[in-house]
Order: sequence, then structure tokens, then C-alpha cells
Amino acid sequence: MSRAPRKPPLPPLDREPTARPFPVAAARTRALVLCPDKPDELSGGRTEPGRLEEAIGLAQAIDLDVVAAETVALRKPRPATLFGAGRVCAIGELVARERIDLAVVDTPLSAVQQRNLERAWSCKVIDRTGLILEIFGERARTSEGRLQVELAALTYQRSRLVRSWTHLERQRGGFGFLGGPGESQIELDRRRIDDRITRIRRDLDAVKRTRGLHRAARDRAAYPVIALVGYTNAGKSTLFNRLTGAAVGVRDQLFATLDPTMRVLHLPSGQQAILSDTVGFVADLPTDLIAAFRATLEEVRTADLVLHVRDMAHRESAAQRHDVLEVLRSLELGDLADDGRLLEFWNKLDLLSGEDRAQLVSAADRQADAVCGSALTGEGVAALLALLDRRLSGAAHVVELELDSADGERLAWLYRRGTVLERRDADGRTHLRVALPAAEHARLQRDLPGGEIVEPAHKNPSGGR
Ligand code: GTP
Repeated sequence: MSRAPRKPPLPPLDREPTARPFPVAAARTRALVLCPDKPDELSGGRTEPGRLEEAIGLAQAIDLDVVAAETVALRKPRPATLFGAGRVCAIGELVARERIDLAVVDTPLSAVQQRNLERAWSCKVIDRTGLILEIFGERARTSEGRLQVELAALTYQRSRLVRSWTHLERQRGGFGFLGGPGESQIELDRRRIDDRITRIRRDLDAVKRTRGLHRAARDRAAYPVIALVGYTNAGKSTLFNRLTGAAVGVRDQLFATLDPTMRVLHLPSGQQAILSDTVGFVADLPTDLIAAFRATLEEVRTADLVLHVRDMAHRESAAQRHDVLEVLRSLELGDLADDGRLLEFWNKLDLLSGEDRAQLVSAADRQADAVCGSALTGEGVAALLALLDRRLSGAAHVVELELDSADGERLAWLYRRGTVLERRDADGRTHLRVALPAAEHARLQRDLPGGEIVEPAHKNPSGGR
């Protein structure tokens, strides 16, 4: 391979930790996605075109403008450049011709390979781990998620001090590679990284100890939470927008501004829930990133329902489902399916026709916990809302209670945990009719001793279904 100048020209340094490397309105980064074809490394019955599609989807997830993508046969990986000299040269021509800013190589690269390719192609190069870290950096929201991502990124950086992660200095990450390696970061020696890792580990312990507080905050919100999960590119965000888009009004602004991936969902019966979008799942997650990934799924742990969005038009739909279920299992959420908390939306029905479509529709009809449709066209979305509504309210109980009107503590408990359907105040007594989710109903006797239940609890008939 011909020797390129010692350093490739790089975009200006991003020295401002909170600013994006480029203004939002600037042209999107032109990216080339390269998927090395190493048949022995395919997992879960995946095919090579499936991998290329996935890699493109991942690149698009951080808003890269993918202008070229190709699978590159790789018979013998080269230690210095991964690809053979001829390939490196041909790709370099493509990079120049298409004015590529960034090449994504969908496999782990060594620090040396990454640096050599950057010099040969005069553009930035990131590998699969780097790309996934960028996505996690953008999406991690809880303190634990952010710390886990930072920890993974530092470990990655430690192995390649030539690279930098400008997003490590940001509250919410993403696009670290686009800003170019900050000189200060390049000079971070192992010792400083190690110090930082030690500090993060300590912070993580503290965050884990207070994890329960998140739950408590959620409880106070009094809305049940529905977490969207699914393979990358399955259509979670499209569904999220479709389900909540119409509902974003003044009242919801609080949630919209607090966190753009959590919004209020209005269900047909009138009840409300918080819909939470999560980071997409990917196959072959590098081991170092597993903890970071799980931490980004914190909402799933505390969700009342988990809605698995599946791309039914994808040729590897079944393998993807398997991967998602494996991860959910590893989150130790109990048996979601048995508890009736796991539902599936079989998405992208609009891409199927004829026999395939008919089969899918009839299979969904036979299943109590799945709805098929299209987040893009809106087909099936009403049925999905009805299913969510049923699952959330079907298990609710309506109780009637009479309390001392001065008993603020118990009244507050009921308002916080349930939906007060009716209230009558007379002679210092307060009579309430309250709908309580099943779990809260079970806690009623324990947490609310002294409240007199006037009528025995019965299944909620007002669930609207
Ligand atoms: P990640 O952010 O990577 O986790 O992806 P996601 O699951 O949020 O997927 P997203 O909503 O971004 O959709 C991925 C692509 O699929 C986009 O190009 C969508 O327009 C497309 N898409 C989503 N739902 C449908 C659908 O029902 N039909 C069709 N034809 N395309 C869809």
C-alpha cells in the first residue's frame, strides 16, 4: 500500500464540549458503509445482504447520509489495513469521487487498521463498535446509561489512543467522531483514562444504589409506562410518532421537552400512558458494549407493558425476534410473556402482498398479544391502541372506599396510584370510587390499612373494552 501523508486532513477540532461539531442545518455527513464479508462470522442464520442492510440502518440511525454502501469480500484479513492493497486503493477512489467524509467499516478494526485506512482514504473511519457507541451515546438518557456508555467508550479509546471521543465531554453524546480527534483527548494518556474509569465505576455504584428513585418518580407520574423495543430499523420511532403525534398538545409539552423519547399516549378509553422509545437492538454486540446497551434500556425494566416492534418484511425477522427476546431475558424482567406484559406489533405490512400478507394477517388474528399493520400508513394502529388499552385497563380493579376527609396521606396515595372515578365529601368523610391497576390493587391492603373498602373489589367494567 502506498504511504499516505502522516496525517489525513481532518475537519476543524471541536473544542466546545456542548456544541455540535457542525451546525444542525449544515449538510449531513456523507458516509460510505463497508460490510466485510466474512461468512464464518455470520450469526443467527443471517445473510450477507441482511448485514449490509443492517449496517446502513445503523449509520442512518445517527443521521449519516449514506451515499454508497457495499459488501467487500474478505478472504484474508490484513493486519495493517484489513482489506488488500488493491481494495484499499479502489475504495480510496470511491471516497474521493463521492466526496465521502466518513467510512463506516462494519466489523471491529484494530487501532492500526483504523489509522492506516484513514490515511489511505483521507477520510474518517469508524468501525462497528465505534458506530454503535455513537448511537448509544446519543440515546442514553438515564445517568446509568450515560455512565455505562462513557465507560465503554473510554475502554474503547484506551485501546486506541489515536482516536478520541469528543462526546465523552458532553451530557448527551453522539457524533464524537465527526468533530475530529480533539488534541486534548489525544493526549489523554492511559493513566488519565484509568482514573476516569475508576471515577465512573464509583459513580455507577452510586447511581445503581439510587436506581429505585427513578422508579419512585415514575410512580408519582401515575401513568403506566409502555416501552417500545425492537431491532434497529424495525420502525419504533415511526410508530412512536404515529401513536403520539396527534396527541402532542399543550398538556404534553412537559413530557415532550423533558425527554423527546417519552410522550403521553392517549388511549381510546380515555386513559393515558407514557410511551417510551428505546435504542434499537443489534446483532453481534461487542461484549464491551453489552452493559452500556442494557443500561440504555432502563425504562424497559420499569415498564408496565413492553411493545416489541418487528419488521415483518425483513428477511431475518425471526432471527431478530430471537435476539430481542434474548436481550429482554438478560434484563431479568421476569417472565414478561407470561405476565401478559409483552406485546408485538408486526410492522411494515404495507411491504407485503398476496399470500405473505394474508398469512401474516391471519396469524396475527389468532394471537392475543400481536397486532399487524404499518407504522408508515397507519394500518392496524387503531387495533394496536385498543390492545394496549385492554392490557392496561383490563387488569384494573375498581374499589369504593370511605376515608376520613382529613386523612391526606391516604387520599394522596389513592390519587397517585389510581384514577379517581368519583368523589363525594360529606360529614368529614370522603367516599371515593377508584380504578387501580392490578399491582396497585394488590398493595392496597398493605399500604392503606385503615381505609374502609365499602364494596369488594371487582374487575373493572369501565375499562372501555
Ligand atoms: P432505530 O432508531 O435504528 O432503532 O430504528 P427504528 O426502529 O426507530 O426505525 P425507524 O422508525 O427509524 O424506521 C426505520 C425505517 O423504516 C425508516 O425508513 C421508516 O420510514 C421505515 N418504516 C417504518 N415503519 C414502516 C412501515 O410500516 N412500512 C414501511 N414501508 N416502512 C416503514
